[in-house]
Amino acid sequence: MKTYLVTGGAGFIGSNFVIYMLNKYNDVKIINVDSLTYAGNLENLTSVENNPNYSFVQADIRDHDAIRKIFDENEIDYVVNFAAESHVDRSISDPEIFVKTNVLGTVNLLNIAKAAWQIGDDRYKEGVKFHQVSTDEVYGSLGETGFFTETTPLSPHSPYSSSKAAADMFVQAYHDTYKLPINITRCSNNYGPYQFPEKLIPLIMNNTLLHKDLPVYGDGMQVRDWLYVDDHCKAIDMVIRDGKVGEVYNVGGHNERPNIFIVKTIIEYIKENVDSEVGEHMIKHVADRKGHDRRYGIDPQKIKDDLGWYPETTFEVGIKKTLKWYLDNKEWFNNVTSGAYQKYYEKMYKDK
Ligand code: NAD
Ligand code: DAU
Repeated sequence: MKTYLVTGGAGFIGSNFVIYMLNKYNDVKIINVDSLTYAGNLENLTSVENNPNYSFVQADIRDHDAIRKIFDENEIDYVVNFAAESHVDRSISDPEIFVKTNVLGTVNLLNIAKAAWQIGDDRYKEGVKFHQVSTDEVYGSLGETGFFTETTPLSPHSPYSSSKAAADMFVQAYHDTYKLPINITRCSNNYGPYQFPEKLIPLIMNNTLLHKDLPVYGDGMQVRDWLYVDDHCKAIDMVIRDGKVGEVYNVGGHNERPNIFIVKTIIEYIKENVDSEVGEHMIKHVADRKGHDRRYGIDPQKIKDDLGWYPETTFEVGIKKTLKWYLDNKEWFNNVTSGAYQKYYEKMYKDK
């Protein structure tokens, strides 16, 4: 039985990972550590909350004593660090918390993993493998051609991507300096169930259903490389098990789409399946995001060649599955879009 300390497992990708792992394996134990910020939601985890191999601890990854206690009371084989402030727009208006969580939180986790291993505790003599969940945004922005590979120099632009790049460098430094076993995966844009509706797909879905303006930043021709969340979970699982220690793996589906295409796809789906009144007239081109990266595109050749990973869900299938999930889970959607979300939306979009 291997024990995974998963941080940020109540967020979008983290909760999908916890569910993916517990559905796939009977011999893994997951300890989910999440401070439950606005983005953390225990409702995502109702399908696994009674699983005997699952437990939840509400704690901040910056809290040394709380994290140390988990290491003392268990035998952790892997740390999988999803916990982060993840939204680029929030990082533009309030960068500091991104440094605190994404950089200092990651360094705290690294220190505790390193200490557990170095104090000679028998349970940790092999070292705790530290998996950092990172992003293609650390590479910066592409022109019309080319892809990010693992050797592309880091060139982050937003406060969010700068904090993720800094965290990646600390993770690499703990390997290079102390030989802590690590991996880093850098993935493109995820979509799927449980994504908080500050992100493009669930936000546009929600606004379309409510007959609200559909805010498209600038000309809407920015390109993102979309990957169904389970394919990302599969990649992380494979890298933790078989990835070469100390290495970075890029994860992406060669699935590049301009934002305006995504928005039109959502409108079409709602028009066909829910409400014939909605249409492209609802699109509103609004002020562009400051420093908006134009294009991301991942070259996933290394993870394909070394580990045999490939994306199983095409965009055409995945987007329908996702939109249907939101329609079938109205209560979840209503709960996350009430209260604080309304205030966030007003503040973020009122001057756009
Ligand atoms: P999310 O914002 O949905 O979830 C983040 C989770 O971290 C939440 O549950 C939140 O409560 C928790 N958290 C935040 N601060 C914390 C702290 N100090 N201590 C403990 N828990 C804390 O994010 P997401 O979209 O699921 O992204 C997860 C990870 O994957 C992030 O590291 C992000 O950078 C990375 N990533 C995301 C994408 C994407 O498309 N969403 C793509 C590539 C990489
Ligand atoms: O590339 C991976 C990254 O993808 C992750 O590291 C981040 O955590 C995740 O948030 C995501 O970042 P993006 O900025 O690409 O995602 P977002 O959903 O915020 O925006 C997707 C694109 O849509 C982006 O070009 C901005 C645009 N957009 C977004 C919103 C919220 C709009 O045009 N209108 C909007 O209202």
